[in-house]
Amino acid sequence: MRQPQLERQGGLPSSVTIYEVGPRDGLQNEPATLPTEVKVEFIERLVAAGLPVIEVTSFVHPKWVPQLADASEVLDRIDPAGQVRMPVLVPNDRGLDRALEAGVRSIAIFGSATESFARKNLNRSVDEQFAMFEPTVRRARDHGLDVRAYVSMCFGDPWEGDVPVEQVVSIGKRLYDLGASELSIGDTIGVATPGHVRALLAGFADAGLGVEHLAVHFHDTYGQALSNAYAALEAGVRTFDASAGGLGGCPYSPGATGNLATEDLVWMLHGLGIETGVDLASVVRTSRWLADLMGRPSTSRVVRALSAGTSS
Ligand code: HMG
Ligand code: MG
Repeated sequence: MRQPQLERQGGLPSSVTIYEVGPRDGLQNEPATLPTEVKVEFIERLVAAGLPVIEVTSFVHPKWVPQLADASEVLDRIDPAGQVRMPVLVPNDRGLDRALEAGVRSIAIFGSATESFARKNLNRSVDEQFAMFEPTVRRARDHGLDVRAYVSMCFGDPWEGDVPVEQVVSIGKRLYDLGASELSIGDTIGVATPGHVRALLAGFADAGLGVEHLAVHFHDTYGQALSNAYAALEAGVRTFDASAGGLGGCPYSPGATGNLATEDLVWMLHGLGIETGVDLASVVRTSRWLADLMGRPSTSRVVRALSAGTSS
């Protein structure tokens, strides 16, 4: 399969981490619920493709996200404590109980930078979300788990419009300070642009949270995700969330479409000579396999180009 021509550029790192969210963010918004065995095979294929971190499912309320109601069954059939880190979303103590029972070693809490989305997604106000997360993070850390924190609606909100940088920084830092090892900055509705990304990263740096503590999580609704990832890369970010085939979206955020596609990100990074440990051809084959099962083509430009027959 075709690979990008290598042209290195000064000032960029020799390697970065891709945090794969396909099995979680990718599948939580699908109209159809995939069978457990398909989810397990999806995860196994991503492991075989070299993804170093794979967010495998969610222990949220099954009525809120029925697509991932089989989280325990999925975990029964994979090795969440193996070589590849396999975090799961956990909103509260009940979710943590279920995750611990399943042998999970790494969780992610997910807060909102806006009141509207906190209420829609968590049935809580912004302040109440901290009250919900605080004991959960403490207990997870007591059990030796790694905790990631997400902050959503960092670049715009469907109900509130623009979201001030200071508001995102203040809420994001509070989430990180609960005891997270990393804060993932979410562009939930895919409206960010590169200058906005730089401004937000600078805001976090001013508040004492440098790029070494941050990951970026771009949805591609407005076609900006890859440009935004490049801006973050230049600014020093080293962890990038992405979803195989560009699957994704949030059921509680109207208009939010897929994540930055793993293949599109890998194409750019490998072209720049930046190692990811990911085998591009294997991820493309995985996304094609899943797209065939779902009965529609992948939204990833790289998957489509490499599947067209003319460029491979
Ligand atoms: P609630 O209804 O307020 O829950 O939901 P509650 O605390 O009032 O509890 C009500 C009942 O639910 C209780 O049972 C609990 O035990 C049960 P009862 O006593 O009535 O029999 N319950 C649970 N059961 C199983 N698992 C649980 C759980 N929690 C409570 N974890 C809650 C509050 C947070 C649970 C709910 O709002 C929820 O599940 N929200 C999740 C929504 C979601 O998953 N959204 C998508 C992920 S976020 C995202 O995609 C954004 C991201 O990608 C970044 C970005 O793009 O920006 C991360
Ligand atoms: Mg997301």
